[in-house]
Amino acid sequence: MQKAGILGLGCYLPPKKLTNSDLEKMVETSDEWITTRTGIKERRIASKEVAASDLGAEASRAAIKDAGLLPEDIDLIITATITPDMAFPATSCIIQDKIGAKNAACFDINAACSGFVFTMVIAQQFVNSGLYNHVLVVGTEKLTSIVDWKDRLTCVLFGDGAGACVVGKSKNRVILSSFMGADGSGGHLLSVPAGGSRLPATEDTVKDRLHFLKMEGNEVFKIAVRIMVDAANKAIKKAGLGRDDISLFIPHQANIRILLAVAKRLGVPQEKIFMNIEKYGNMSAASTAVALVEASQENRIKKGEHVVLVAFGGGLTYGAVVVKW
Ligand code: ACO
Repeated sequence: MQKAGILGLGCYLPPKKLTNSDLEKMVETSDEWITTRTGIKERRIASKEVAASDLGAEASRAAIKDAGLLPEDIDLIITATITPDMAFPATSCIIQDKIGAKNAACFDINAACSGFVFTMVIAQQFVNSGLYNHVLVVGTEKLTSIVDWKDRLTCVLFGDGAGACVVGKSKNRVILSSFMGADGSGGHLLSVPAGGSRLPATEDTVKDRLHFLKMEGNEVFKIAVRIMVDAANKAIKKAGLGRDDISLFIPHQANIRILLAVAKRLGVPQEKIFMNIEKYGNMSAASTAVALVEASQENRIKKGEHVVLVAFGGGLTYGAVVVKW
């Protein structure tokens, strides 16, 4: 019997690059500090008039084409984003209209950087239950719209981009198992404090820069390594596999030191950890999506091999998915 798997993949990165030396002119930082502390060399910046749905629509068109489908064939669109075009309507609805997926139901999820992994798990349920044939999942972010360009601790980390995947019944690239978790007590470590019902926009919230992303980087760093390793191990075990059965880990790209620490704790060589953080920085929900697309395009995964997608993010949230290619 066929199970939910990956039918098509696509991504879109805005062309404009912001390099570390560009950032040196904006805040007190250096290429050396950013490279050694984070592994990031440059990130993509969407232009002013571009929103998350525009990036997501481009990635979606590519994924639907890659699946050999038409937009009308999509039954459901789930978008993971923390930078929606607006509070509502859902960014998924805006993407649906842009790409002409007129038969699709739509909703968004908010699981920050774990968002794309969570959408894969949700899509898997709809496909395996038989309710929908083709679910389009999208991770899209215009993080540069919520970055405080005066805060050197955060502004060097983030970038814009989108990745998408069509999930449907498949013989190949099958989703074998998954794990999702959350720890709301760590919510304060990563947030945009204002703009919701707790602190609606006022002159004061704008003056106090509360509409920008705030992060306690050191705390997040420590937790990230532990929960990514835990999530990956749980999903691998659920698939009835062991660590050595995994050919490639595709983790959320937050910081190269986190990725290296994860490799060490998992007990796998660095070559088994996919990394593209150097080119894009942290794109939250789009990071894992774009990494999956690039790993596939670069033929890093052979037919029959096992891959683990693993992520953590604001919420705190964390999760992993095992795919048999
Ligand atoms: N350039 C130069 N110096 C800087 C910069 C900068 N951009 N930023 C901070 N510094 C300075 C600090 O002020 C500090 O100086 P001090 O020693 O004089 O006080 C020094 O560098 C060290 O600062 P730390 O905060 O200790 O640096 P650290 O090594 O922890 O790196 C970083 C900071 C990169 C943010 C790291 O903590 C990290 O990557 N954390 C994880 C972040 C993350 O994973 N976020 C993902 C989730 S995002 C989401 O869910 C949307």
